[in-house]
Parts: sequence; structure tokens; C-alpha cells
Amino acid sequence: MKTPLSLLALLLAIVSPGASVALHAADQPQADSEDSELGDAMSAMNSAFKKLRKQVADPTQNEASLALVAKLRKGCVESTQHVPIKVGRLPAAEQAAAKLAYQDQMKKLIATVDELAATLKAGKNDVAADLLKELHDQEEAGHKEFRAKKK
Ligand code: HEM
Repeated sequence: MKTPLSLLALLLAIVSPGASVALHAADQPQADSEDSELGDAMSAMNSAFKKLRKQVADPTQNEASLALVAKLRKGCVESTQHVPIKVGRLPAAEQAAAKLAYQDQMKKLIATVDELAATLKAGKNDVAADLLKELHDQEEAGHKEFRAKKK
């Protein structure tokens, strides 16, 4: 009798830590930014943004640049509709204010994107290049405040 019981205890000790890890993971459907809808929308913004950084100063590319700006804006609008993982992990009482702060920052980003479109339409490529730097600063500030640390 002694041996089977201690074997059972040993088995439980081996199995239960794994089981508790699995349960914990199931509690958190979005473990990090890679698999969130917001992450997907941000990635789409990122590909337009990277291309823009290469060509924004070139007036001969303005038509293509404006198409990229439209893509970037679409990603911004979509991103505004999602809630960052970090905000979802805050205590319930803090979530509404954090969500508004996030949306506010995204609206500022969209305003800069609109300014970028108007500047390109006016053929002011040097100003457009400065606006891209401003967008990059806004990106960094947004990520610092709202992006969850990778686990
Ligand atoms: C041009 C501006 C921006 C670009 C190009 C950009 C790009 C990105 C990229 C590439 C990711 C990673 C996606 C992934 O891991 O799958 C990301 C994640 C994220 N970004 Fe941005 N971003 C920008 C602006 C912002 C701003 C202004 C904010 C906040 C107001 C923000 C908040 C976040 C958050 C919270 C995540 C993590 C996703 C999540 O929590 O679900 N981003 N972004």
C-alpha cells in the first residue's frame, strides 16, 4: 500500500505545476502583444510607416506616399478601436481612464497623420519629413506608456 500512495504523491507533484501553468495561460487569452488585434493593426501601420520614412522627402513619389499615408491612417483608426493589453491588465477601476488616455493619444497621432497628408498635397516635402519624425516621437511615447512589457 505504501508504495502506490507515495507514487501517486510523486505523480501529483510532477503534474500539478504544469497543470497550474496551463490554467494560468488560459486565464490570459492574449499573452503578449504579438497575438493581439491591436498588434496586428499596429504592424500594418508599421509597414506603411517604414516605407514612408524612405520616400517622404522625394516629391516625385508624393502620389505613392499619399497612398501610404491613407494606409497608415486606416491602421490608426482601427488601432483606436482596440484596448492595449496593458490597459486590460489594470485594476478595473483604472481601466476607463487609461482607455480614454490611450484613445486621446491615438487621436493626436491621427491629427499628425492628417497634417502629413495636407503637407504632401501642398508639395512641402521638407515639412513632411519633419512630421514623420514627430510621428516617430509619438510612437515612442505611446509605446512607453501603453505597451505591455514582453514576458
Ligand atoms: C506611427 C506610429 C506607430 C507605429 C508605426 C507603431 C507600431 C507598432 C508595432 C510594430 C507594434 C508591435 C506589433 C506586434 O507586436 O505585433 C506596436 C504595438 C503597440 N503599439 Fe504601436 N505604433 C505606433 C504608435 C503607437 C501609439 C501612438 C500608441 C499609443 C497611444 C501605440 C500603442 C501600442 C500598443 C499598446 C502596442 C501593443 C499591442 C497591444 O497591447 O495589444 N502605438 N506598435
